[in-house]
Amino acid sequence: MSSPNLPADGERASPASNTPFVEFSGLCVDFASSDGVVVALDRASLSFEEGAFVCIVGPSGCGKTTLIQTLAGFLRPTRGSVRLAGRAIEGPGADRGFVFQAPALFPWMSVAKNAGFGLMVRGEPRSQREAAVEKSLRLVGLWDFRNRYPYELSGGMQQRLAIVRALINDPKVLLMDEPFGALDALTREQMQEELHAIWRRTKKTIVFITHSVEEAVYLGTEVVVMSPRPGRIVACLPVPFARDAEQRDVRAVKSSPEFVAIRERVLDLIWRTADAR
Ligand SMILES: Nc1ncnc2c1ncn2[C@@H]1O[C@H](COP(=O)(O)OP(=O)(O)OP(=O)(O)O)[C@@H](O)[C@H]1O
Ligand SMILES: [Mg+2]
Repeated sequence: MSSPNLPADGERASPASNTPFVEFSGLCVDFASSDGVVVALDRASLSFEEGAFVCIVGPSGCGKTTLIQTLAGFLRPTRGSVRLAGRAIEGPGADRGFVFQAPALFPWMSVAKNAGFGLMVRGEPRSQREAAVEKSLRLVGLWDFRNRYPYELSGGMQQRLAIVRALINDPKVLLMDEPFGALDALTREQMQEELHAIWRRTKKTIVFITHSVEEAVYLGTEVVVMSPRPGRIVACLPVPFARDAEQRDVRAVKSSPEFVAIRERVLDLIWRTADAR
């Protein structure tokens, strides 16, 4: 059942004139399970430009992880396609960095070695590796901890290291699947500020999945709303907040009428899509 009040699937679809930077087109993903076929994504279409900070929200099980994993190249679509900078995704690659909900760090490697892992795999010379690791660890305040091991870091520090590790290869896109979900409220807000500052400084395209509508509206240049499974794109709403300062006044932004209006619009879309099922 569909609701006439909902925007069309793939609202704000790619402009016909030029190729979008990221393009999911008619994406379908079916999984075989013990109960038969599970349709995780059903003709999901979405596109956005380079430098966007795209936050994806939707009910649990709606296919958010499935969607981002097709862009990462971890999963192949059953039908449809995913393109990055005009090229079809055919598997994982160094042009995409991935940050998981639980920081996937190597426990036997020091902070510096974890940070530089991607460069080592690519065979970068040691001197260049060390310079890049120092620059990145300083960027997130972990330089003084470079000789420690992951178990000696707090959850927020581990997640910062995971972000460094994903960014060290200078990927075209940073993919983040609920990266702050396991953090306490205060650390989570601090990490939001840090990620916003990293995005401003590096101008990376970011795709960020979250269960928090407030987090999505605070961080995103656009917020994508997905329907309950089988996942479709219900809307892609632009978030027109000033992002010219690296540090923003969190309380002022989150209590502004513009912020509250978009947050309510996103929540309304989520509820209405759930009710329409
Ligand atoms: N490997 C798999 N085999 C079978 N079913 C799967 C597999 N991976 C995901 N699914 C199913 O596909 C659907 C979408 O899963 P997905 O993990 O993408 O949802 P999600 O939106 O990320 O949920 P959450 O918010 O809880 O993380 C779910 O119904 C899930 O059970
Ligand atoms: Mg998920």
